[in-house]
Amino acid sequence: MDSLRLLSKNMKIEGNPFGSSHQRNQIFLKFVAFFLLIGLAYRFIVTDSTVSPVAQVQTSPLDPSGLTPIAQAPASLDSPGNFTTTTIASQNVTSKCDIFTGNWVPNPSGPVYTNVTCRHIQDHQNCLRNGRPDVNYLLWRWQPRDCDLPRFNPEQFLDKMRNKWWAFIGDSISRNHVQSLICILSQVEEVEEIYHDKEYRSKIWRFPSHNFTLSVIWSPFLLKAETFENVNGVSFSDIQLHLDTLDQKWTDQYINFDYVVISGGKWFLKTSIFHENNTVSGCHYCQGKNNLTELGYLYSYRKALRLVLDFVAEPTHKAQVLFRTTTPDHFENGEWNTGGFCNRTMPITGSEGEMKNEDVSMRDIELEEFHKTLQESSNSSKNIGLLDTTSMSLLRPDGHPGPYRYPIPFDGVQNNEVNHQIQNDCLHWCLPGPIDSWNDLMVEVMLNQERHR
Ligand SMILES: *[C@@H]1O[C@H](CO)[C@@H](O)[C@H](O)[C@H]1NC(C)=O
Ligand SMILES: *[C@@H]1O[C@H](CO)[C@@H](O)[C@H](O)[C@H]1NC(C)=O
Ligand SMILES: *[C@@H]1O[C@H](CO)[C@@H](O)[C@H](O)[C@H]1NC(C)=O
Ligand SMILES: *[C@@H]1O[C@H](CO)[C@@H](O)[C@H](O)[C@H]1NC(C)=O
Ligand SMILES: *[C@@H]1O[C@H](CO)[C@@H](O)[C@H](O)[C@H]1NC(C)=O
Ligand SMILES: *[C@@H]1O[C@H](CO)[C@@H](O)[C@H](O)[C@H]1NC(C)=O
Ligand SMILES: *[C@@H]1O[C@H](CO)[C@@H](O)[C@H](O)[C@H]1NC(C)=O
Repeated sequence: MDSLRLLSKNMKIEGNPFGSSHQRNQIFLKFVAFFLLIGLAYRFIVTDSTVSPVAQVQTSPLDPSGLTPIAQAPASLDSPGNFTTTTIASQNVTSKCDIFTGNWVPNPSGPVYTNVTCRHIQDHQNCLRNGRPDVNYLLWRWQPRDCDLPRFNPEQFLDKMRNKWWAFIGDSISRNHVQSLICILSQVEEVEEIYHDKEYRSKIWRFPSHNFTLSVIWSPFLLKAETFENVNGVSFSDIQLHLDTLDQKWTDQYINFDYVVISGGKWFLKTSIFHENNTVSGCHYCQGKNNLTELGYLYSYRKALRLVLDFVAEPTHKAQVLFRTTTPDHFENGEWNTGGFCNRTMPITGSEGEMKNEDVSMRDIELEEFHKTLQESSNSSKNIGLLDTTSMSLLRPDGHPGPYRYPIPFDGVQNNEVNHQIQNDCLHWCLPGPIDSWNDLMVEVMLNQERHR
């Protein structure tokens, strides 16, 4: 209960990931500095050596900084000696295969992009640039237990997406995911940002030569909600959550979309007052305020998912939809604001992973409501699939920024000195990182839905 209480008060990490305008200015200054550096490097290379700048930029994906010696061949996990380290040859995904059950296996070739080859990584998730010293966490790929999973092919993907519009709807984890996708795709075609909202929370990008449009829509509750946060993401008044009304921010645009990945999650843990039928029906973590009935976050989460799933299943709504399940955090020995950390450097196996109670119950609700939708409307539900990334993500406590949410967090800190100032992020994912594999599954389920019924 204690951890739940702490989570529900206000989650700074999720609360305002883009920070104040001051922070944005800093980001802007960093960009300026970055381009100046690139410019200098270019001059240096061009005037000082015969190496072409292009060759310089195309360093091995795992060697953006000469870190390679640290990268060791990862030890085997479940079944020693029993995995293939070669690239996937067959695309043998049978309808019986549950691609969400499996293990992380070594992938010596590493990620397809780095902090150098992708310029769309948000500062707080740019672990390479922020100085995370270990790189072992980059050397894994997801292997379903009973079949091989085709590796995401950006060329093929963009070809299929010609003249299409794809939207991610949710919270900062959705943005984390969309940035991973953009980093992968931008290795093939550079993307144009054509819109961002005031807070840089919702964005639209376009891949011009494919006329492929990609949106991320900030709607952490998916419902109509009034939130009250200062620029640092600290809430100064309770969230007012309308359990019978979807957030128009996404429903108004919905008709445009061909593909949608939608998800709820951790924001439901925050203190919130529930509104239904124009009256206050209760609250979550209300602490006896105004004699309101404590209905809990599971109540609001279920109501939200019911509305969302009914909406996307309406026969008039043609978009192909994936509902992504909750993403587990990996704070150990505390929560985000009580010194919790995540300093592991290896994936774990299924037997080691233990999900926190909130994640278990949220995922249960997600699966229940999703299956209800499938049963209720056998016609219209043809366009709805599940992107169940929860278990694969649970096995990657090593994939979070931790202290490397900020650049060189231990600068000036003595070894072993406990520094309470350091804020760990054990919820979002490093880019590159495990979240890149969500795209392999996403494409498989979205574009080959018939194989997964
Ligand atoms: C796919 O897997 C099935 C079952 O394991 C096997 O019978 C079949 O030969 C495989 N097909 C290919 C193309 O590998
Ligand atoms: C990428 O990260 C490395 C450290 O891993 C750093 O030295 C380099 O400056 C970074 N480059 C960019 C463009 O962020
Ligand atoms: C580009 O794609 C959008 C849909 O995403 C479509 O409405 C538009 O007509 C397309 N433009 C061209 C030139 O095909
Ligand atoms: C909302 O109001 C309508 C009509 O007044 C009623 O039928 C419905 O049961 C109410 N729903 C809730 C959740 O109170
Ligand atoms: C809460 O309920 C109690 C008992 O019904 C009542 O005495 C009290 O005035 C109520 N408090 C508020 C703030 O409504
Ligand atoms: C993680 O941090 C804890 C506490 O500081 C320490 O005991 C442990 O050795 C660290 N683990 C790794 C892999 O660095
Ligand atoms: C299901 O599909 C059939 C044939 O396409 C149609 O006649 C029927 O109205 C649909 N039912 C629902 C509930 O949409």
